[in-house]
Amino acid sequence: MRVGVPREIKPGEHRVGLTPTAVREYAHQGHEVFVEKGAGLGAGYPDEAYKRAGAKIVADADEVFSAAELIVKVKEPQEVEWKRLTPAHILFTYLHLAPDPAQAEGLLKSGCAAIAYETVTDARGGLPLLAPMSEVAGRIAVFSAAETLLKHNGGMGLLLCGVPGVPPARVVVLGGGVVGTNAARMAVGLNAEVVVLERSIPRMRELDDMFLGRVLTRYSTLDAIEEEILKADVVIGAVLTAGAAAPKLVRREHLKQMKPGSVLVDVSIDQGGCFETSHPTTHADPTYTVDGVVHYCVANMPGAAPRTSSEALVHATLPFGLALAKNGLDALAKDPHLAKGLNVLKGEVTHPAVAEALGKPFVDPYSVWG
Ligand SMILES: NC(=O)c1ccc[n+]([C@@H]2O[C@H](COP(=O)([O-])OP(=O)(O)OC[C@H]3O[C@@H](n4cnc5c(N)ncnc54)[C@H](O)[C@@H]3O)[C@@H](O)[C@H]2O)c1
Repeated sequence: MRVGVPREIKPGEHRVGLTPTAVREYAHQGHEVFVEKGAGLGAGYPDEAYKRAGAKIVADADEVFSAAELIVKVKEPQEVEWKRLTPAHILFTYLHLAPDPAQAEGLLKSGCAAIAYETVTDARGGLPLLAPMSEVAGRIAVFSAAETLLKHNGGMGLLLCGVPGVPPARVVVLGGGVVGTNAARMAVGLNAEVVVLERSIPRMRELDDMFLGRVLTRYSTLDAIEEEILKADVVIGAVLTAGAAAPKLVRREHLKQMKPGSVLVDVSIDQGGCFETSHPTTHADPTYTVDGVVHYCVANMPGAAPRTSSEALVHATLPFGLALAKNGLDALAKDPHLAKGLNVLKGEVTHPAVAEALGKPFVDPYSVWG
């Protein structure tokens, strides 16, 4: 198959859909790979490295989209990219369509098959293509919170790790999945007091075993959230229901009761955010303050570490991408977990949670197949 890798154009995004190592695997299996000039530069991969791996370097994104059938990206396509997509394309990337009706309309109009990394599943009920970026984002969330707590960044002027005789910050994590666990791990490493609120009792048991009592777990109810956020110096939002918009767990009226200068890091912002007052921000201007509480809501946190993130992402996407390159959409029929990634096909929404979030009819993909 002809596989295309455009340069990412979302502001502040430096990751790339395929590393040279991954291109070599595609080329080795007989696929032709077209990489846009400079696509890997932000992550430290020069065009030369792609050429050595067997890719053809093309001048611009128009050339990538017209040469390739399978487009492998990182972030959701931007407006100029929707317009390049046609019914002949399979798009394989993060989409996060639930909070983004404009993008959904763009993809529906294009007629392409759009497979979202974040809704591909695995045999253990996990989200294997979201997990590596959640690992990165969970870890970055704690660095970012620590920075934001400092006075010159708008925070209350607290050193997250404390010093002898002065207590560290209290970090409350909403959701103990991949982001939440990685955030808890970093916060524990920095000596913070850590509380994780979860809905899954088996997950809380795992966290309890993993952290040997160093992290407090608490069942996530309205009462528990209200109590914990009032005591928090940092709240990290890390909840998810696959494909759906994030639930608003912290409301505007809560902010006035929180500590002034406390920090909310809404990692769930890519699914609309779990704080009512969240709106997406960028690495260039990551924070804003509402009612004295500083919000950090960067929608592409792993974009800050493009080298680590591109490599980790490609390790997870490679087997699925190779299956799509080998079998086209038939790969979905062979792998029900990859099929769960199909969000849009031939102008219809084909993922139930995405359809519900967008207020669109859900259409069984097999009814529009072929
Ligand atoms: N901003 C970014 O750059 C970035 C990067 C990676 C991931 N994310 C996002 O972070 C979010 C979390 O991802 P993840 O991989 O950790 O997901 P995950 O599925 O591993 O974990 C989510 C957890 O939330 C829990 N949960 C659901 N509802 C809850 C509630 N009401 N209270 C408490 N816990 C609840 C679930 O039980 C689950 O354990 C997603 O929205 C993901 O898209 C954002």
